[in-house]
Amino acid sequence: MKPVLIVDDENHMAEALSEAVKRCGLLPTVMNSPIDALLKLNLLDYSLILTDMKMPKMDGLEFLKEIRKRGLFVPVIVITGYGTVENAVDAMKLGAADYLMKPFSFDALKTVIGRIMPSEETDLVAAAPVMKKLVAMVKEVAPSDITVLLTGESGTGKEVIAKYIHKHSMRSSGAFIAINCAAISESLLESELFGHEKGAFTGASERRIGKFELANKGTLLLDEISEMAFQLQAKLLRAIQEREIDRIGGKAPVAVDTRIIATTNKDLLQEVKAGKFREDLFYRLNVFPVRIPTLRERKEDIIPLAEFFISKLASKMGRGYSISPEFRDYLTQRLWNGNVRELENFIYRTVVIAKTDALMPPDDVFEQKSEDAKELSGGTVKDMERELILNTLEGTGWNKTKAAEKLGLSVRTIRNKLKDYNLDKKDV
Ligand SMILES: Nc1ncnc2c1ncn2[C@@H]1O[C@H](COP(=O)(O)OP(=O)(O)OP(=O)(O)O)[C@@H](O)[C@H]1O
Ligand SMILES: [Mg+2]
Repeated sequence: MKPVLIVDDENHMAEALSEAVKRCGLLPTVMNSPIDALLKLNLLDYSLILTDMKMPKMDGLEFLKEIRKRGLFVPVIVITGYGTVENAVDAMKLGAADYLMKPFSFDALKTVIGRIMPSEETDLVAAAPVMKKLVAMVKEVAPSDITVLLTGESGTGKEVIAKYIHKHSMRSSGAFIAINCAAISESLLESELFGHEKGAFTGASERRIGKFELANKGTLLLDEISEMAFQLQAKLLRAIQEREIDRIGGKAPVAVDTRIIATTNKDLLQEVKAGKFREDLFYRLNVFPVRIPTLRERKEDIIPLAEFFISKLASKMGRGYSISPEFRDYLTQRLWNGNVRELENFIYRTVVIAKTDALMPPDDVFEQKSEDAKELSGGTVKDMERELILNTLEGTGWNKTKAAEKLGLSVRTIRNKLKDYNLDKKDV
């Protein structure tokens, strides 16, 4: 279930929206003030923001401006009062994804949401024999509660497979919740996972339910599990074994029925040998290991995947595209070290700049951009650093480890930089 943030100062309206959002199969969070939302929440946690226009202190337009100022690209739907078309127009100019004018029906809301967040029905392409086999295999184990450990290079589709398992399990009506163990600091991760009671530590002004509980009767995806701190690994092990968790500051454990899927792009056994990963936890997670092959090992998937991404974009842009023979050759010959994600990003860029409907391979200038640091003349050092880091990440298919190696930086530095750029949750 995708999380949606609702910002409205009027409680009854917020509640009605919250109910409607739930009926759309999404997970609502309500805030009564946009200022609080900006201060207290990480807006990147949300797939969509629904905000009222008329609110005291900060109105919907200012809120939208603040969101964009922070470089956050989460889609925003603005709700305006009856007859205030100008506001709606202003909102669209500021980058709102859409607007709704009061009063509106549930169907109107559903349509707008559906347009912005198309349901992820056909979300998996598997044409290569190895992939077909893999998908059939995970479908078979999906209904059992077996713990799955997904390994594979960055961008191979670990999250896609995890969602597929959830969808084909008995838990599909429960929540699918993902948490990236590498993106969050150790102290925060514990409270994100297990939650905390009000007053458990400075700043814990409210009780917070952790992801383990949110995923109760559903599936919890623990991304990049190798990055979890050793001490926290013990608590995770306990949660899995005892099927109960301890909220930070809680008086008694809470029973949870959560299926675990973990992913890693490191060799976990190697991490165990190096003393960085608990052996007992490794065996708990490694019950059903699945390695997702790189795109280089399943070239038969390249064109079907490209077609899939193109058709998704075509319906979004209201325009049709075709793959020219030159483009087809180019796609099948390129190495795709960033795997499916790199292919997806590449298709996206190609479509965006395409002058004709028949897509063509890129010209040299466009391709060399990431290699050519000399281009970076002028601008502040900070800007150049940002460009260089982002270009290198782009060139490695957003593989932070590889990018760090190329740049001579630590992965942590890259992560911190991405946090500075507000791109730490970026999944492209
Ligand atoms: N088989 C597939 N069919 C369709 N789309 C796919 C497939 N595999 C991956 N993708 C798309 O490629 C992108 C990367 O996939 P995903 O996020 O699942 O990779 P990942 O292995 O989890 O990467 P990372 O290690 O960086 O977290 C996503 O946008 C996803 O939708
Ligand atoms: Mg992932």
